[in-house]
Amino acid sequence: MKQLDMLYEGKAKKVYKTDDEDHYIVHYKDDATALNGAKKGTIYDKGVFNNKITSFFFTLLKKNGIDNHFEKMINDRDQIVKKLQMLPLEVIVRNVVAGSMAKRLGREEGEVLIRPTVEFSLKSDPLDDPWINEYYAVSLGLATEEQVKEVIRQAFAVNDVLKPFLADKGVVLVDFKLEFGLFHGQVMLGDEISPDTCRFWDADTHEHLDKDRFRRDLGDVDGGYKEMLKRLTGEVL
Ligand code: TMP
Repeated sequence: MKQLDMLYEGKAKKVYKTDDEDHYIVHYKDDATALNGAKKGTIYDKGVFNNKITSFFFTLLKKNGIDNHFEKMINDRDQIVKKLQMLPLEVIVRNVVAGSMAKRLGREEGEVLIRPTVEFSLKSDPLDDPWINEYYAVSLGLATEEQVKEVIRQAFAVNDVLKPFLADKGVVLVDFKLEFGLFHGQVMLGDEISPDTCRFWDADTHEHLDKDRFRRDLGDVDGGYKEMLKRLTGEVL
């Protein structure tokens, strides 16, 4: 497959067209942002870690019957993915209170939720990804009712696979963000699953093994990415 022009450059990734109309090449960058772009930096080899970690998770999900856009890794920073028509939604699943949920609702970080929950944001940098609910998503024409139902079903199915898998590796899956698109009309999981888009806590110490080290200036930022890759694949970079 031949890489053609860049289609889009995001905060953490670049997307390239290919000579195959059903596929893109995604390139993972070291750039990191937080607070909706207000805080900027780079994290050493983050692109390599996130490419490998995302490839690992998407392969695991496929093995467990959750189809997604991932096809294969072609080098340390690039992967071939199916071309999806993205839904303009961020879908967040939470198992434990943290981050914006703790702030907004005045709850302690670390409180285990009675059952996992899901929430939606409108994907919009200028509006700072505002909260919407599933009714808004349909009313605003962002997705159909059936698509929203399918998104929620798949989001919880991802949690049902990843949460016990990570628990086995000594990691608490606190929360994570997913993005979905349509592939030939079918709802399909896309984007990435990495320490940029998930909260991973060490099960014993609750040490953060994710981008919160960058967001909260906790230091040794690349150490979290390194540790997650090691726990998942045994690979030490
Ligand atoms: P939050 O607590 O800040 O709402 O974040 C919940 C989860 O979603 C956390 O794992 C980080 C992830 N996330 C993203 O990947 N991108 C985003 O733009 C936001 C707001 C959160």
